[in-house]
Amino acid sequence: MKKILVSPSILSADFRALEREVKAAQDAGADLIHCDVMDGHFVPNLTFGPFIVEAVKKCVSVPLDVHLMISDPARYAPAFCDAGADILAFHAEAVGGIDAVRALLGDIRVRGVRSGVAVNPDKSTDLFMGALDLADQVVIMSVYAGFGGQKFIPDVMEKVGAVRKAAVERGIDVDIEVDGGVNGETAAVCAAAGANVLVAGSYVFNSNDYAGRIRAVRESAEKSFMR
Ligand code: DX5
Ligand code: ZN
Repeated sequence: MKKILVSPSILSADFRALEREVKAAQDAGADLIHCDVMDGHFVPNLTFGPFIVEAVKKCVSVPLDVHLMISDPARYAPAFCDAGADILAFHAEAVGGIDAVRALLGDIRVRGVRSGVAVNPDKSTDLFMGALDLADQVVIMSVYAGFGGQKFIPDVMEKVGAVRKAAVERGIDVDIEVDGGVNGETAAVCAAAGANVLVAGSYVFNSNDYAGRIRAVRESAEKSFMR
């Protein structure tokens, strides 16, 4: 069984006390810290850039799982690698075709960072399947990128299953992350389909028991993984 990793998204953290929040998430058992980067163009919302990623990097020792929701990821990827991203994912639909997806995944890896590719709920896995050999992580969005606290879209689990099947058939060791609307119940559905990395933003940070929420996601995923 692949190790289940829980990646709390700081999108729902209290930014007045970001250091305290990310340390609390780490102390509560987070395996990764998920950083949502939005440019107000690829998605209708704005968050932060490499400067905040660099600040978060100084606060925690767990790897940073950086999710770029931006229109020109190739242009900015180097800055996020330099800022301390340990995993850097971009949207396949934001770049121009499979050759560009392959080039950017390769470029991220060359920089010593784990490469990731994401797709929105209405986008096909065809956008990246031909680059699976260059991806360390695939991010299947279970909400439309842009905002925290949205409702989980179960239909995307079909894509999770297809990616896991292709990876097994091709002998590729890839992490599959589900991002959006993950909680103690939906985590089971994600893991059953083959996902092993669960992002949880509002479910963790909008509670007063981060450890309990992280544990709930992990335990429900561990019980259900590919069953
Ligand atoms: C959505 C982001 C997600 C989001 C998850 O654009 O990519 O990472 O913060 O938040 P929840 O867990 O609240 O759906
Ligand atoms: Zn995200």
